[in-house]
Amino acid sequence: MSKETDFLVIGSGIAGLMYALKVAKFGKVCLVTKSKIDDTNTNYAQGGIATVTYKPDSKKKHIEDTLKAGDGLCNKDVVEMVVSEGREMVEKLIEYGTKFDTKPDGDFDLAKEGGHSENRILHYKDKTGFEIQRALVEKIKSCPNIEILENHFAIDLLTQHQMGYAVIREKTKIECYGAYVLNNKTNEIDTILSKITYIATGGIGNIYHTTTNPEIATGDGIAMVYRAKGIIENMEFVQFHPTALYNLKERPSFLITEAIRGFGAKLLTFDGKCFMQKYDVRKELASRDIVARAIDNEMKISGSEYVYLDCTNISKEDLEGHFPNIYKKCLETGIDITKDYIPVVPAAHYLCGGIKVNKKGRTSIKNLYAGGEVAATGLHGANRLASNSLLEAVVYANISAKISAKKIGKIKINNEIPNWNDEGTNDLEEMILITQEFKELQQIMSNYVGIVRSNLRLKRAMSRLEILNRETEKQYNKSKVSFKICRLRNAINVAYLIIEMAAKRKESRGLHYNIDYPEKGKLI
Ligand code: FAD
Ligand code: SIN
Repeated sequence: MSKETDFLVIGSGIAGLMYALKVAKFGKVCLVTKSKIDDTNTNYAQGGIATVTYKPDSKKKHIEDTLKAGDGLCNKDVVEMVVSEGREMVEKLIEYGTKFDTKPDGDFDLAKEGGHSENRILHYKDKTGFEIQRALVEKIKSCPNIEILENHFAIDLLTQHQMGYAVIREKTKIECYGAYVLNNKTNEIDTILSKITYIATGGIGNIYHTTTNPEIATGDGIAMVYRAKGIIENMEFVQFHPTALYNLKERPSFLITEAIRGFGAKLLTFDGKCFMQKYDVRKELASRDIVARAIDNEMKISGSEYVYLDCTNISKEDLEGHFPNIYKKCLETGIDITKDYIPVVPAAHYLCGGIKVNKKGRTSIKNLYAGGEVAATGLHGANRLASNSLLEAVVYANISAKISAKKIGKIKINNEIPNWNDEGTNDLEEMILITQEFKELQQIMSNYVGIVRSNLRLKRAMSRLEILNRETEKQYNKSKVSFKICRLRNAINVAYLIIEMAAKRKESRGLHYNIDYPEKGKLI
């Protein structure tokens, strides 16, 4: 089946929803999402959204904190722009129905997280993402101009490649005309032709074994753009959240928000000793790269599988009032956080790199924009400052929507794109192999491309990945397309980009730490 739209939005997290709401005034929107509409990283966000509200905070301080966390790789113009436009977009979220906690005097109740010099995180208890997702989904469902297609998996972008241009010359400007989308329920592949495409497919956490991200986060958008020959950058900067609840049976790992450390919780070794003072003067509130590496080091020293987070110095009233979700979850697993220490481990959490976009959110491919976690805007550099992600997503969705609205009138649908052709392919014989290969990939990434890297580990990861890639491509070319094989293929592409870019960076900076180059080098 083939359908036409003005705007194709891929992804239903904060970035996709905000962009769709903003462009709906200017044309027909088709929003596809590979699972349920609220199956997103956004839905899991706990801590909140960073923005400057009251003195003594200032934009200058937020900018400085972001630059410091980014360890020399942030784009200063972008940082200034996002911080400056953040407040207006937070107001927009409120206008669209999002609630943030306030104090009895009516002011926002502002939390603090690692790397922030002031309390500046607006939040809704410890379920901010859930609240944002709820409000935006409600709003979007009331928009007649937006068609929502759940359980629709975008497989590949439509570009000149699909028009039979077997060889695209190096200088050809690649253009995007929409996407091939697999209907997970019927297994049919739709050709969605669109004037403008917005990729908002989120992060990559699931290419690692231990992650805070739900299953949808497999880097599909990055893989699609990479295959379409778009520019991808900074993939080596994978952020591990320091404190996920240690529970071998649970995927995704349940997050224990950094805001709880902002409230005074302490990290302790397996045998109950404070250790963060050895690593940074800011102790528990150092930036995430430092805290995650410190925990990793302490686990290696003691041989333990976790460290502890001690919240017992925080009153029961505060824990239950500010962190009800965490309190309840821990209690369900037998931990009373008012009395017991919480066992925690670092877990893959966020990708700082991704599809390179300019200050308008434009990718290197014509008529293709990207926003949210999938995009590399230059805001985060080598390490994202906590709670800057939701902020970046809304600011860029707004900017991209404005420019898209200006351009849409001049773009035509490309009717030369053929429908998907799967002649000569058969049903996959052993789907179990795909599942096993996906698990193998997660092991490769967790074992060799984690918080601490080395040349040997990266080399080993690449040689294991090459075998997986060969086998998967062979299967992909001869079998009918299925959601699982597409997901595996995307995850392999993303893993390749991470390993390749990590191997190229001959220094340690921000989230990328290589024991063979422990020092910071010249910027590359
Ligand atoms: P997502 O919200 O992940 O949405 C991606 C969408 O794309 C989903 O709808 C998915 O189904 C869809 N999709 C993916 N691939 C395809 C495909 N092939 N076809 C169709 N659809 C596809 N950030 C903060 O700023 N503050 C926080 O407090 C915070 N807490 C966090 C806590 C947790 C546990 C996690 C996991 C993340 C947290 N983050 C936080 C990070 C932040 O939540 C994410 O970076 C942000 O929500 C990403 O939004 P997004 O719209 O880019 O992607
Ligand atoms: C957290 O609440 O600790 C997560 C915040 C973030 O990832 O920005």
